[in-house]
Amino acid sequence: MRDIDKRYDAVVACKSASLQVQPGEIRALLGSNGSGKSTMVKILAGTVKPNGGEILMDGAPVTINSGLDARNLGIATAFQDLSLIPTMTVLDNILLGVEPKGKWGTVDRAKAGSEVEALLERFHINCDPEAYVQTLMPSMQSLVEVAKAVYQKPRLLLLDEVTAALHRDEVQLIFGVLRELKAEGTAIIYVTHRMNEIFQICDTATIMRSGETVAHVNTSEVTLDEIVYYMTGQRPEAVSPHEAEAAHGDGADLVLDVEHIALFPKVRDISLKAYQGEIVGIGGLEGQGQPEFIRAVLGLTRPDDGRIIYRGEEVHFHSPADAVMANIGFISGERNREAMFPDRSVGENVFAGRAAKGGLFRFLTDRKVRDFAQAAVDKYSIVVGSIRNPASSLSGGNQQKLVIARWIAMNPTLLLLDDPTKGVDIHSRRDIHKILRQSADEGMTIIISSSENDELLEIADRVYLFYEGRVSGVLSGASKTPERLVAAMMGLTREQNGAAKETRQA
Ligand SMILES: Nc1ncnc2c1ncn2[C@@H]1O[C@H](COP(=O)(O)OP(=O)(O)OP(=O)(O)O)[C@@H](O)[C@H]1O
Ligand SMILES: [Mg+2]
Repeated sequence: MRDIDKRYDAVVACKSASLQVQPGEIRALLGSNGSGKSTMVKILAGTVKPNGGEILMDGAPVTINSGLDARNLGIATAFQDLSLIPTMTVLDNILLGVEPKGKWGTVDRAKAGSEVEALLERFHINCDPEAYVQTLMPSMQSLVEVAKAVYQKPRLLLLDEVTAALHRDEVQLIFGVLRELKAEGTAIIYVTHRMNEIFQICDTATIMRSGETVAHVNTSEVTLDEIVYYMTGQRPEAVSPHEAEAAHGDGADLVLDVEHIALFPKVRDISLKAYQGEIVGIGGLEGQGQPEFIRAVLGLTRPDDGRIIYRGEEVHFHSPADAVMANIGFISGERNREAMFPDRSVGENVFAGRAAKGGLFRFLTDRKVRDFAQAAVDKYSIVVGSIRNPASSLSGGNQQKLVIARWIAMNPTLLLLDDPTKGVDIHSRRDIHKILRQSADEGMTIIISSSENDELLEIADRVYLFYEGRVSGVLSGASKTPERLVAAMMGLTREQNGAAKETRQA
């Protein structure tokens, strides 16, 4: 790609951007939220038309005006916002447009069926090919999105934040497939905000800043700090280690006390305490009951057993609305399903939290909504053309920041977060962590579930690890180390560790 320009009215998405990739090369495409990565991907995929620049394949100029053009050139894409059709089956989604033909030009369902079964197996996707996509977990949908692109046997594979919804073992699985494709000579462009992935899987990286491609590097020759510098133009500041955790806990008020909660089959027996001003982390492998636990506290599902004590009283929320009235906020990483109104304006999206508490409607003026929203947009440096634009016009990471801004602006007593920084770039993520810490210092109690260990180690005062619906470890202070965290994630509790040691000594 040479000198690519793309504007949306006043917003410049790409400015003289260039990108090259060779057969058998995995090139990371990096940059802060809104820097133009997805736009570059969509231009190659044929879903966005550039205003200028040229694209060459094998040295010859090509035009990509549609998804079909891209497919004919051997380009396949797994999109950040997924391209799957929720009301169609997994099988039909994968075959869409590439159905293998029988002798008479008819679709050969039997052949297709067995091919797709092999494909699903390759990705360890454990589902019925005839299941509707909308019934699958978000992580499984992401895997299907990648599998669908791989099924097309592309020469150039574009992956836009495909691991954002995935857990560690699923990411490794995808990496395994990518290594095979690389060996077969596929060229791969890989967009991610998870910095550790770049060094694991990518050979080279192109870094974007405000629509320009500012650096092309070999990953073996750069450090993370250098990459962040290219992304932001600023030297990263060291993340400040937080105050002694002992300050929280003793003496502070117990805000949430969950006792032996069970919610079959996912949550078996979980007890968790959160004190005022504390940031409590929840970690673990995927599917150990984390989302179910959080949604039970919120009143979205009713636990089969156990008690939830909030500010000293046992509560039975019948719906999240009850929880909101009790000053509990919820930020979901599943923004498209649970947290955003894509067709409503940015302003309305920020204001939605206030509106949910009621009482304000009588005095609600356009101006009020605008001022409230503008303050939040400024505070969180959300990149928007105008707060009147629909939320769906924002880049993925900026959409997520919008959801975060909404709830922090409400100043809840207890804030629950489920993988909140999914898709948020490293720079904004540090900003968000700073804002969370500041809110906690001012007395907010925060419970954050994250699929990323680094995030938990960085932000949480105490970390609960979930394993098979139970707590396999609680780490704080000196015990909060990456090694302990991984051990607890795998279900190795401290007693078992100790026991193992003793047996060895004996
Ligand atoms: N359909 C659209 N209408 C208006 N503006 C748009 C549209 N699509 C993208 N933009 C703007 O173009 C810029 C680049 O967006 P893009 O989605 O390429 O960013 P990105 O680098 O993928 O960010 P992220 O990491 O958050 O996904 C952003 O400022 C975004 O708001
Ligand atoms: Mg993007």
